[in-house]
Amino acid sequence: MNAQSKRFLPIRVCTGAGCKAWGSEDLIQGLKEHTSQTHERVMLIPTKCLNNCGGGVTLKTALAKKLIKVRNPGEPWEEVIEAVQGKETNGSCETIKASEV
Ligand code: FES
Repeated sequence: MNAQSKRFLPIRVCTGAGCKAWGSEDLIQGLKEHTSQTHERVMLIPTKCLNNCGGGVTLKTALAKKLIKVRNPGEPWEEVIEAVQGKETNGSCETIKASEV
């Protein structure tokens, strides 16, 4: 295991009014439970409005270098983790390029 794999990936989760309506608090709780079981090293950081309201809960990570919309803040959590790691997803996550924001 190298030093980089020991680092936590910070994930900013919008908890503004719009994202709260889409279930941001449920998403935070669900991701906490999932990552504690899988031992994935993420740090969930509730944050204010990321100015991309509507269409799901907005997440931001430095690794993905784009905002991520989670339309269904429930399982499959693996897909959410892949999206925040910058991987392509086909289901509940829609990635939005930073340049489009
Ligand atoms: S309320 Fe989440 S982006 Fe605005």
